[in-house]
Order: sequence, then C-alpha cells, then structure tokens
Amino acid sequence: MLVNVKDMMIKARDGKYAVGQFNINNLEWTKAILLTAEENKSPVILGVSEGAAKYMCGFKTVAAMVSAMIEDLGITVPVALHLDHGSYEGAKKAMEAGFSSIMFDGSHYAIEENIAKTKEIIDLCAAKGLSVEAEVGAIGGEEDGVVGNGEVADPAECKTIADLGVDILAAGIGNIHGKYPSNWAGLRFDVLEAINNATVGMPLVLHGGTGIPDEMVQKAISLGVCKINVNTECQLSFQEATRAYIEAGKDREGKGFDPRKLLAPGGEAIKAKVKEKMDLFGSIGKA
Ligand code: 13P
Repeated sequence: MLVNVKDMMIKARDGKYAVGQFNINNLEWTKAILLTAEENKSPVILGVSEGAAKYMCGFKTVAAMVSAMIEDLGITVPVALHLDHGSYEGAKKAMEAGFSSIMFDGSHYAIEENIAKTKEIIDLCAAKGLSVEAEVGAIGGEEDGVVGNGEVADPAECKTIADLGVDILAAGIGNIHGKYPSNWAGLRFDVLEAINNATVGMPLVLHGGTGIPDEMVQKAISLGVCKINVNTECQLSFQEATRAYIEAGKDREGKGFDPRKLLAPGGEAIKAKVKEKMDLFGSIGKA
C-alpha cells in the first residue's frame, strides 16, 4: 500500500537522516528501486515528473503499476508515490489517479500567486490524506545550454510558505538539476541554515541530488534536509551499463537480444546506485 511522506519525514528529521526520492521512468526503474528499498529495509519515495507520467501513458497507469508491483513483489517498506514538480492542473490529476504525495511547484509564480495556489493544493490534499511539497526559489539547471549557479531562496518567503501547512519544503540553495558545471560554487549552507532556523522543524528537500559531493550531502542533512531527489545519476548508471553490454557484443550472443537480458545490466546498475545513495543518506534499516 502507498503511504504519504508525513511519517517517514518526521522520523528522518528526528533521526537525522534523509529519505531518497528516486525518479522512475518505466517498469524496470520502478522494480529496481522498490527491490533495493526492500532489500535494505529503507523507506523510499518514487518521484514522477509530469513528463515521465506522460511517457508512461499517464498518472493512472503509473499509480496502478506501482500499487500492483508493491503487492506482487511483497514490498513491506513504506513507499510514497510523489508527483515531482507538479503544475496546478497536473497536481489535481495526480491526486485523482491515486498518488500519495504531491509536489506543487509554484516557484516560477510571484510569491503571492505561489502562496494562493499552494494553499488550494494543501486543502485538496488534506481532504485525501496526501502530503504536500512546495517550492520556493526555483532550483537552477540548464536552460538553452546556459548553466547557472542555481537559484537561492529567501528564508522569509520559505517561512511564509512553510506556515501555510505544507509537509515538506524545497528551497533553492544553489542546487541544480542534472550534472553540475565544473565551476559550480557549491551549496549555500549559510542560506540553508537561515531557512532551517526560519522554518523550525520543517523537513527540507534537496533537489538536484546528482553529483553533489558526499560531504555536502551529509552537511545538508545535518541542517534539516530530510528528502533528497536523485534522477540523472540513475539514468547515467543505466546508460553506462547498457552501453557496456552492447559494446561487449552481448546483445548478439545467443538470446542476448531478449529485452529481459538487454535491460538487465541497466536495472542492476540502478539498484547499485540506489543502494549507494540510501547508504549515504542514512536511510538503510530505517523502515
Ligand atoms: P537530478 O536529476 O539532478 O538528480 O535531480 C533530481 C530532482 O531534483 C528531481 O526533482
């Protein structure tokens, strides 16, 4: 059964560790992440962006696949199915389809509109027992080939959004989606500390988990980060393992063309990456 993230976030905050949100793209991804969580007795959050949901045929297909997989694989650890960077309309659709947790990303709106829309989403989620993640100060990333140093959120705005009644808060602290540029300045721990102080007790979310050095991840956890999103790193692991399989000519040996064989090394690579992250985040054995 799917759960919202409320309980797992409170435990992570009090136990000073973080739960990973791993984004899913298909059945192989989902299976690899769920099995790794179960094998390591770790709570887990499956992230689904609107684009990934569309690719997988829609929110209903995703919710049905994940729920059925939890049952068929006998998964006992807490699993949340979380909409990643949802729009206002997308959030409503994911709620109806059976997602257990919703991120409404209103960070691109002026703060007044972000507040108004976040409030509406909170009320809708409350009626269904779902958890809500909001965002202040967009997370940086590549746009038209230009990579920035990542946006930085205003701690006072974070407090305003936190006080609306969200369960978890994503705040820009110089983090970026995708690979970090070689001249990246690093996470803004001064800002993270100010946000943590302003929002007392609010579990914070670190997006753009790919490529953040381990020491920075650990320091972020010590300053209130309870959820860390990882997407690109799993994609790169899958890509490298699949490339190695094909470059070694294994797809041309025997029945190596069978998708169950062809996609297996990629699946194993995702499992190894997810385990590595769960270990770093401290969530192993916490389910
Ligand atoms: P990465 O792709 O950089 O790991 O970021 C994932 C993320 O933050 C999803 O919201």
